Amino acid sequence: MTLSRDARLVILTGAGISAESGLRTFRAADGLWENHRVQDVATPEAFQRNPALVYRFYNERRRSLGGAQPNAAHLALARLEREWQGDLLLVTQNVDDLHDRAGSRNLLHMHGELLKGRCQSCSAIHPWPDDMDVDTRCPTCGRAAVRPHIVWFHELPLEMERIYQALERCDLFVSIGTSGHVYPAAGFMEAVGPAARTVELNLEPSLRASAFQEGRIGKATELVPAFVAELLGK
Ligand code: APR
Repeated sequence: MTLSRDARLVILTGAGISAESGLRTFRAADGLWENHRVQDVATPEAFQRNPALVYRFYNERRRSLGGAQPNAAHLALARLEREWQGDLLLVTQNVDDLHDRAGSRNLLHMHGELLKGRCQSCSAIHPWPDDMDVDTRCPTCGRAAVRPHIVWFHELPLEMERIYQALERCDLFVSIGTSGHVYPAAGFMEAVGPAARTVELNLEPSLRASAFQEGRIGKATELVPAFVAELLGK
């Protein structure tokens, strides 16, 4: 793919980019939600009904992050950001910190972050590498009102305005490792301008595959480094 080096890029990633780092995807046969029914853990209602279960679910996921390392796909996207001359925005649906640890900086976690806690009383957001529970106190206001800084189903994803502005202006939109099941990310294609190039890199065609000009099938750790090398002409 040839593109001028100052072109504007928007890259969307989903659980598939972290699969080869050992973090399970949501809809695979052994998917994350299989062990916990979605409505049991990832909704505001679940948190109201059974906060201890929801805290435990995210504590387990937060702990499992320590054993995972960024893979070649995460590292390739960080390299692209360093070497690309144009704007690049990386929008991830993932709440893991693998893009962060790989070195991506122009990074937006639209579904929140496992390693952050948010106070329901004063809205302060703090780094949170450890467990939290109903008695966990907010470092800013001191109230026992900290929750995972995760966007749950029925809640509005973060920084949507900034994402849509970037989509409308981009010259290339690349979707990596996402199934196209969950909106609004599954509908980002509709916000991309008519002149933009669109590519999907995925282990199998997503539900939105037909909307992309080009689709490449394979593992992220193979497809993404090759795609980045192509963009950089190296
Ligand atoms: N390389 C590339 N793609 C892969 C790989 C891999 N090694 N392994 C799996 N995939 C693909 C799958 O084919 C699938 O299309 O990644 C996608 C993962 O899809 P999901 O499990 O649905 O994850 P995701 O699309 O990120 O889910 C979106 O749904 O559950 C909510 O909030 C949660 O952010 C999540 C959102």
